[in-house]
Amino acid sequence: MANKNLNAAKTAKKDEFYTQMSDIERELQHYWQHFRGKTILCNCDDPYESNFFKYFALRFNQLGLKKLICTCYNGSPVQGNELMIDWGDFTEEPKKIAYKVEITEVRDLNGDGAVDLSDVQYLLKNDKNVLSILKTGDFRSSECIELLKQADIVVTNPPFSLFREYVAQLIEYGKKFLIIGNVNAISNKNFFPLLYTGKVWNGVNSGHTWFKVPEYYEIPDFYDLTDTKKLRSNGYAIKDGRLWRNLGNICWFTNLDNKKRHEFIDLIRSVKHTEYCEYDNYQAIEVGNVNEIPYDYDGIMGVPITFMHKYNPDQFELLGITENDPKMKEYWKDGALRYDRPYLKGQRKPARLLIRNKHPKTL
Ligand SMILES: C[S@@+](CC[C@H](N)C(=O)[O-])C[C@H]1O[C@@H](n2cnc3c(N)ncnc32)[C@H](O)[C@@H]1O
Repeated sequence: MANKNLNAAKTAKKDEFYTQMSDIERELQHYWQHFRGKTILCNCDDPYESNFFKYFALRFNQLGLKKLICTCYNGSPVQGNELMIDWGDFTEEPKKIAYKVEITEVRDLNGDGAVDLSDVQYLLKNDKNVLSILKTGDFRSSECIELLKQADIVVTNPPFSLFREYVAQLIEYGKKFLIIGNVNAISNKNFFPLLYTGKVWNGVNSGHTWFKVPEYYEIPDFYDLTDTKKLRSNGYAIKDGRLWRNLGNICWFTNLDNKKRHEFIDLIRSVKHTEYCEYDNYQAIEVGNVNEIPYDYDGIMGVPITFMHKYNPDQFELLGITENDPKMKEYWKDGALRYDRPYLKGQRKPARLLIRNKHPKTL
């Protein structure tokens, strides 16, 4: 990469976290029924780097897709080399240009009976598939919004720094989506109302996740690069000559139905046999761990925000979220109850979701 580009990249927001194919496969396997006959848009996805593009291109026929559109942002400072597309007129050294790729036909060109990456390399030689330059590739730009309007489902890992804006746009255009985000979004004043009103829910997988990152996301000098075990435990790894970062609290958000949303959590504790304390300032009990939700309590319970990973609206009623700042009540939207942060024996507790069991067992 030229020095100029590298310097620009260093000052850019840290948004370059490339999702592993295995993580995409693990989540997307639960949504195949939604994809048939649909136009899929990956609008933060440089086909050189993006496994989302690769995932859909390789399974284009198997999934019965109508169209796949990928757009690449010109602010994205790296260019990978996983997928060596024949660029036609753009054959020089990969340049950081914004472009879109529109795929409507994927053929098994080498005649081996399967569509594989070497066929994908030929994708753009097919007249029905188009590569064209965009002005910026910014998902907020008018040219990208036109593509968004065409799309049935948007699937990607959007820039972390623009997550709220990104989601707001999907909602504004009434799109179906499956995207990667951070668990902390759950308590965001704009995002929580979407969860509360059942317009968005969690995907199937969550937790610590490894992402490939550009080399300029340097490992701090104080780490010993030869101590791979310690590096990994601090969230860094070097694999195949590339730098990887492990991020905690990663999850998927969607408005496509999935099986997890209908699974009932097994509740094994009784409120009679376990110590549950009521908050000092509310009539609700603190349940510090989702596994400790009692099966026989019919009152309000405060649970960690990670409860959303297991939330089944047929099992629980989501009443609201606790807030630290009473002024936040002005942001109250769509009927979601916002309570002040709960205190327990004088100690302030972190943000909690307030829930009620819809079918408490009485023995
Ligand atoms: C978290 S990375 C994920 C990349 C890819 N979707 C993946 O999962 O491997 C987010 C990507 O969005 C790009 N990006 C940042 N700002 C953008 C914008 N305003 N419009 C479109 N893409 C943007 C970044 O350059 C980056 O490549």
